[in-house]
Amino acid sequence: MAIVSSQQQPTEPERKPKQRQESTRKRQTRKAPEENLLQPTAAVDEQEKQEESLRPPRLADYIGQKELKEVLLIAIQAAKNRNEPLDHLLLYGPPGLGKTTMSLILAAEMEVNCKITTAPALERPRDIVGLLMSMKQGDILFIDEIHRLSRMAEELLYPAMEDFRVDITIGKGQAAKTRSLPLLPFTLVGATTRIGSLTSPLRDRFGIIHRLRFYEPEELSQIVLRTAEILKTPITSEGATEIARRARGTPRIANRLLKRVRDYSQVKASGEISQKIASDALTLFNVDPLGLDWTDRLILKAMIEHFNGGPVGLETIASATGEDSQTIEEVYEPYLMQIGLMQRTHRGRTVTPAAWKHLGYD
Ligand code: ADE
Repeated sequence: MAIVSSQQQPTEPERKPKQRQESTRKRQTRKAPEENLLQPTAAVDEQEKQEESLRPPRLADYIGQKELKEVLLIAIQAAKNRNEPLDHLLLYGPPGLGKTTMSLILAAEMEVNCKITTAPALERPRDIVGLLMSMKQGDILFIDEIHRLSRMAEELLYPAMEDFRVDITIGKGQAAKTRSLPLLPFTLVGATTRIGSLTSPLRDRFGIIHRLRFYEPEELSQIVLRTAEILKTPITSEGATEIARRARGTPRIANRLLKRVRDYSQVKASGEISQKIASDALTLFNVDPLGLDWTDRLILKAMIEHFNGGPVGLETIASATGEDSQTIEEVYEPYLMQIGLMQRTHRGRTVTPAAWKHLGYD
């Protein structure tokens, strides 16, 4: 499944059987309308290719998120039986849990193309109109960070999602005319880390809304073993368990830690990743036995040392730690709450007795 430059718009009338993934992530310069899909930078491209090879290609290869898989299996079969596109799908939850992967899998299962973009790239009406007009029958449009869509982009999406049409304005002032252009039926997959920031008209237009959960250690261990096999890295099941335990319930982190441990193992040991090697490497890389990194610990320590464990507001934690409040809220906090080290109350965040203990304060 190659990532193709979005300038190479599919022009052939039918390309259904071969799935294509089109990435439109970061725009660098303003382009002509037909070029308004974004060009991946070389670095992003390389990284995407790497991640690409590790992604499970089909639903049967996808480990974890059992409930979501069951929902999607039914939706896929029903849509296929009716010869219709899938319902629009909204996936939410912390980063790294497999929202993009699931969208690509859906495209593979439905034998359609998947176009990948991110809301900030759809800043101008023509960005989104061009993208919508380029969709083939049943194609999937994946919009990451969908809570960041501009008002205008969002309003263009409403009729597109509901009636498969896009309303465009031609001309200016008194001479301006509105035209309604038909679209081929498509599926929108929206992804967000902040479901609460979505407007309700947008949220209500999704047929399926599902939260991705943190993965169980056993699931992450299977993912590590699968990735190690793809990377041709020898690993024991105890080694995989050790990496899984410290991966914050997140496949993207598990795979990243595996690559770092693989480097350590190749340089410092025989090459095979055992439990001891994984543990030594991760300790060296500052990932503690609960998977907390330097920033997690900084956040908890700041709350304990400056605010006696809270309650303390998010913005206050951000200024005490020098971290961005949105990153704390979307990346760090969900896992700290999941493992019972932090709580949210109406008066602010507090650290739990388990966090004091974990950091050696008692
Ligand atoms: N690699 C990353 N996420 C995965 C998942 N959920 N299942 C299998 N392999 C993966």
